[in-house]
Amino acid sequence: MSLTTPIPGPKGLPLSGNLLAFRKDPLAFLMKARQQYGDVAHIRFGPSRHVYLISDPEQIKEVLLTKQSAFRKAKGLQTAKAVVGEGILTSEGEKHMRQRRLMQPSFRKDRIGSYAEAMIDYGEKMLASWKSGETRDIMDDMMQLTLDIITHTMFGTSITNGVNDISHAIDVGMKYVTHKATSVIDIPESFPTKSNLEFKQSAATLDKVIFGIIEERRKNPDASRGDLLSMLLAARDEEDGSGMSDQQVRDEVMTIFLAGHETTANTLSWTWYLLSQNPEAEKAFHEELDQVLDGRRPTHSDLEKLPYTQHVVSESMRLYPAAWAINREVQQEVEIGGNTYMPGDTLMMSQYVMHRRRDYFEEPERFKPERFAGDLLKKIPAFSYFPFGGGPRVCIGNNFALMEAALLLATIGSRYTLRLTPDHPPVEPEPLVTLRPKGGLRMVVTARG
Ligand code: HEM
Repeated sequence: MSLTTPIPGPKGLPLSGNLLAFRKDPLAFLMKARQQYGDVAHIRFGPSRHVYLISDPEQIKEVLLTKQSAFRKAKGLQTAKAVVGEGILTSEGEKHMRQRRLMQPSFRKDRIGSYAEAMIDYGEKMLASWKSGETRDIMDDMMQLTLDIITHTMFGTSITNGVNDISHAIDVGMKYVTHKATSVIDIPESFPTKSNLEFKQSAATLDKVIFGIIEERRKNPDASRGDLLSMLLAARDEEDGSGMSDQQVRDEVMTIFLAGHETTANTLSWTWYLLSQNPEAEKAFHEELDQVLDGRRPTHSDLEKLPYTQHVVSESMRLYPAAWAINREVQQEVEIGGNTYMPGDTLMMSQYVMHRRRDYFEEPERFKPERFAGDLLKKIPAFSYFPFGGGPRVCIGNNFALMEAALLLATIGSRYTLRLTPDHPPVEPEPLVTLRPKGGLRMVVTARG
């Protein structure tokens, strides 16, 4: 690190710096760092790792958009490579740009509309197993639901028998990445620990299934199937006409599984929690659903008639953003907001911190979906609300996720009310790779009259 002027930050211990305080409660630590030090706070992890918490929208824009080529994704993400290889989430530079060009069309708004029916079908299928008055782990239910949906979106009807194998293997992969990314000791993958062995076995199962389907599809190409896999296989680079190798398709399939289900499941779980704690908002949500749907199953075209439901999703992602912080590592010396950063420095931008800024969001701690009803997003600066990131690496699945969340809320909310069990401990956010309710959410589900 060598900076024009030293940047102040929370005082830490001589060797470990702020590491222990951060690990103890990352969200509280970051909130306090911003409150005390403003737009930039210098945080030290160990003797030589310098992290700068950037909390000014203009500077965040420079990091993620205007000066993004000076940065790369931070090291933490390297652990994900064990599962997703060199997919769009983990690749850099030219390779990333090519993959983005190839994949972007498959995520266009007009393409993803065709997945709406499957989303609602799986929502209804889940509800068919619910009994009014029973207690359920809603986090588990939402995870299974979004996993079923992304599996169907990816493979269409190619996987009917293998679904459980796939689900289990993906679950093991996700837990492995989370565990590795958050554990203090980094045990190499080659060590025969229980979790390494279990992970290897599940990765082999997944590879077998995925490569098997790819081979079968290469023999009988039919892009009209409409599932995501057929689109990935048919994708051609507009610059040189080339497509993806089997290995690349496999890596992208895994990437979509990794990036595309837990985030949405967390968002839905937080939303059920927030609605249960805010009767007025819940009432407005129910009224909209009753008025528009009157008890019938929603359709894709209902979405535009459900603005409040969409504001509920936006507000839930404001308070509990599934992606709670984005990190970037400096690759080449760069100037941001008058400070110079050197290669190896990490810049951290936290959605959790920014979304709770009083100057952009009135009564920031309160759940008020109606705040999104006017032109709030036009009034506040770009990058003060950024649940999906921004710039060339903005979430490729943002429209997919927004559609999925609103349709599932409508499907479930028009039939059931969810309440925390009376003896539920206080619900706290746990910032792992994604932000989830610590210990899950046990909720009583009651059929609406
Ligand atoms: C509420 C749900 C979701 C949230 C909050 C979310 C959030 C994010 C964020 C913040 C990033 C940018 C990370 C960075 O710049 O370092 C990202 C990237 C990404 N997301 Fe999402 N995501 C969600 C759902 C999805 C879904 C449903 C999919 C796929 C179907 C998906 C696929 C991806 C991919 C592939 C990337 C990497 C894009 C790139 O680097 O070019 N996400 N997501």
